[in-house]
Amino acid sequence: MTDFPDLRKRNTAQLNWHLDQCNAPPQLQEAMRYSVLNGGKRIRAQLVYLSTMALGADIGVADSPAAAIELVHAYSLIHDDLPAMDDDDYRRNKPSCHIKFDEATAILAGDALQTLGFQILAEDDKLNPEVRLRMIGGLTRAIGGAGMIAGQILDLSYENKRINKQQLEQMHLLKTGALISLSMEFGGMIAGADSNTQEILEQFGSALGLAFQIRDDILDATGEDEDIGKPRGSDAANQKSTFVTTLGLDVARRSLKEIVDTANDSIMKLGPGARPLQQLAGFVATRNH
Ligand code: IPE
Ligand code: IPE
Ligand code: MG
Ligand code: MG
Ligand code: MG
Repeated sequence: MTDFPDLRKRNTAQLNWHLDQCNAPPQLQEAMRYSVLNGGKRIRAQLVYLSTMALGADIGVADSPAAAIELVHAYSLIHDDLPAMDDDDYRRNKPSCHIKFDEATAILAGDALQTLGFQILAEDDKLNPEVRLRMIGGLTRAIGGAGMIAGQILDLSYENKRINKQQLEQMHLLKTGALISLSMEFGGMIAGADSNTQEILEQFGSALGLAFQIRDDILDATGEDEDIGKPRGSDAANQKSTFVTTLGLDVARRSLKEIVDTANDSIMKLGPGARPLQQLAGFVATRNH
């Protein structure tokens, strides 16, 4: 299963352009560019593009929303790697931002990337103001204290603890699922989808987000360092509660397959235009990086 390299490249070109325009002082801009342009699968951007296209809307309108999501995602990775969080020295096969630069620069680069994401949405005149406002509201909810950050604090508070499957899924849905689901919902907002369609997109997105994080947990336990771009075993070293440490590899693999199969069935309600989304889901479930 493969992803969509053309969409990946399109998004990277957009990110490059926005970072060039952002007017940050050189040392800050260098850290921002380093963390965004040093690889990355661009899964979330691909989801924005594919959901937009599945609903028959213009791909060009998806450029800024896709860039905004990837900028916010890059911020989340910089902060996730900090010593006070997961204390990971490598990201995307390169030194993490706080190792390449320093901790203060990494914190600030993360802050600046997050706000740049919001700025791009607020200022994109290809989107009508009502859609911009919905996107900004959706993004605040997805990454805020009841979304991704809630998941991150649960992740930290569950270190060294035994939790049940429900707690585990809730944590995954928040820390990873919320932003991935929003990527799908952005396509619906661009296309002016009705509430029924939005619900189909949202459900597929959160299931895919959960699947994505289960695969991430499996790779942390079984992947090759070079493929995953960071040393294997970070979760075990940090005594994290993951799908693998909590439920075991077999259950993790089985749950991953079940969740992706169900998500793939449900997205076909959108018709044949949704096939590429199934293909990307297949990639997410089987990726080795
Ligand atoms: C890694 O996300 C962090 C998680 C939410 C599991 P990705 O695996 O999408 O990271 P990049 O952008 O491809 O490096
Ligand atoms: C990261 O989850 C989730 C967010 C950045 C919000 P992980 O801590 O599992 O991601 P990796 O394994 O470091 O990429
Ligand atoms: Mg983490
Ligand atoms: Mg981490
Ligand atoms: Mg991980």
